[in-house]
Amino acid sequence: MSCRLVAIEDQASGRGSAVSFTNCRDVLILGIETSCDETAAAIVRGPDETGVDLLSSVVASQDDLHARFGGIVPEVASRRHVEMILPVIQEAMGRADLDWDDLDAVAVTVGPGLIGSLIVGISTAKAIAVSRSLPLVGVHHLEGHIYSASVGAALPLPAVVLIASGGHSHLVLMSDHGQYTVLGRTLDDAPGEAFDKGARLLGLPYPGGPQLAALADSYKGKVKALPRAQLPGSLDFSFSGVKTALRRVVEDGLDEEERPKVAAAYQESIVTSLAERAVEAAEQAGFLPLVVVGGVARNRRLREVLEKRAGAMGVQVIVPAPKLCTDNGAMVAAAGAHKFALAGPDEIDLDCAANLPLASWGEPASR
Ligand code: KG4
Ligand code: ZN
Repeated sequence: MSCRLVAIEDQASGRGSAVSFTNCRDVLILGIETSCDETAAAIVRGPDETGVDLLSSVVASQDDLHARFGGIVPEVASRRHVEMILPVIQEAMGRADLDWDDLDAVAVTVGPGLIGSLIVGISTAKAIAVSRSLPLVGVHHLEGHIYSASVGAALPLPAVVLIASGGHSHLVLMSDHGQYTVLGRTLDDAPGEAFDKGARLLGLPYPGGPQLAALADSYKGKVKALPRAQLPGSLDFSFSGVKTALRRVVEDGLDEEERPKVAAAYQESIVTSLAERAVEAAEQAGFLPLVVVGGVARNRRLREVLEKRAGAMGVQVIVPAPKLCTDNGAMVAAAGAHKFALAGPDEIDLDCAANLPLASWGEPASR
């Protein structure tokens, strides 16, 4: 199935140009994600002017496997991907009620991530592409997170995107599909990493981020945020200071009943840093819509603070459904569908890389 692109006149808002995805509406894409500790596959249809339709999405989490180590063990992760990849893909195909002949392309995460885990995904995608004569589309993991916001609704472009996950913290100006300018990033930890490390300091079991958030949300008193990094004139982030502040509080001795209050103070510092910079970036870019994605976008308090701050500035906030925020195959299929429609497929010698900077479509990905 080939798609044709037609540029249409500027939208009434005057913000950039919209594209109409002629002939893409019925295109079916399988997306595969194995960059870290989730083996995931999904099928989407599209894109059209309303984004992509999600037909099925299957995620096999490895949380239980890594819990006893207190963190992800790369070698263990790749071995579990090898065991799970085919059952997960078959389950996604079955739930979408599709045969292999129905597919039009295969999309796969090519980095960044754990190299052994990435290799399992890309090898599987290539095997399917070659054996079924299907086009192959490589997707950057951050691009996948961005396009999670295109499932069931068109991305409002241009936009400022906050990607807040376990491994990444990026503020990106997305001027059009596949066109990215990085405005800011973390100077040390990613916010999800800060949540996970804070959880460990508070003695919460792995994976800690959501548990710390739940403990914080259980506190109903007035919250005073722990000190956060001030980086005037910059859209970068830093979370190592708040982590040190938490360590000091814990080392000074913490009663059981104080833990929710301290968790809330820690969470407040992280989400305020994220929301402050994200809204500032959207404002500086001309009050563009703010798209918030990645695992930390599941955080209830972050959504609340963003709505309040962005609402006060007249900035629209878009956050995907919680299941689409953490790693999944739908985001890869959605990004792959847009890339396939607008930039075409990749060659079969497509490679993957543990460190892969976010590059715009058409630009060489420097490593
Ligand atoms: O996007 P993701 O699945 O993986 C990466 O690409 O890194 O994000 C996982 C991260 C973990 O660090 C996890 O602790 C964090 O997202 N996370 C949360 C919440 N749910 C997941 N952090 C804060 N609050 C949550 N509710
Ligand atoms: Zn991710």
